[in-house]
Amino acid sequence: MAKYLLEIRDLWVDAGEKTILKGLNISVREGESHVIFGPNGTGKSTLIGAIMGLPNIKVTKGDILFRGKSLLGILVDERARKGIGIGFQHPPAIDGIMLRKLLEIINSSQAEIKRIALALKLGRHLERDLNKGFSGGEVKACEIMQLFLQNPDLVLLDEPDSGVDIENIKVISKAIRELLQMNLPIGKRKRSAIIITHGGNILNYLDTDVGHVMIDGKLKCGADSREIFSKIKKCGYRDCYKCLSANGEKPSGGK
Ligand SMILES: Nc1ncnc2c1ncn2[C@@H]1O[C@H](COP(=O)(O)OP(=O)(O)OP(=O)(O)O)[C@@H](O)[C@H]1O
Ligand SMILES: [Mg+2]
Repeated sequence: MAKYLLEIRDLWVDAGEKTILKGLNISVREGESHVIFGPNGTGKSTLIGAIMGLPNIKVTKGDILFRGKSLLGILVDERARKGIGIGFQHPPAIDGIMLRKLLEIINSSQAEIKRIALALKLGRHLERDLNKGFSGGEVKACEIMQLFLQNPDLVLLDEPDSGVDIENIKVISKAIRELLQMNLPIGKRKRSAIIITHGGNILNYLDTDVGHVMIDGKLKCGADSREIFSKIKKCGYRDCYKCLSANGEKPSGGK
């Protein structure tokens, strides 16, 4: 059985003055992709921020283990160097930072930059300022391009499909499949992922392994992600995991 790359135990997190995560557990094995669903404002991005060590997100209890070692107290750049990468939900546009220059800092291979840019239809964007005037879909593709070049072991994707049209979801999903090596069996994949999504479309193109629903600051369920999504559509967020539990699924958010 593959080892756990990420283990989160009894995690309590404050964002600003508010306690958002209240005893959350999740365990992600090497090569696994987990999907998290949940209503707006429930704390999905806060969880991603806590794993990455972003500012204004304070862990008050519990632990986040990456390759068995605690990430608490480790700064965001060091977490990135350890192999954690994030595709932001709302990445900023930055004047004066040319996309090509940023990509060259992440990865010096011009051939790889060109290959990924063309695959994500961003060949003409390389000489533009980062995200400046990019469409919603282009911003999301740009986040995935940066992850490709960063080459992390744990990929955190915060709503990679929001604002992306039906055609470009295929382009983005193809890139995510390649990034996460979803054509290989789990045991052979080099990367693990946590993917947050509201729209089910992306799930039609990805082979994800476990789905969770975030409710009341915890992860519930731990079942097949497409099945959870169809229950959410039928029962709503609050009742979907009860529904799956009633059908004999494990009511667990990991360990
Ligand atoms: N820095 C902060 N200061 C105060 N409140 C914050 C801060 N960051 C997040 N919050 C609050 O924490 C709650 C959870 O936010 P979060 O962005 O994690 O939700 P989410 O599940 O990702 O929502 P969505 O589906 O809309 O992306 C929200 O009520 C949000 O306003
Ligand atoms: Mg969010």
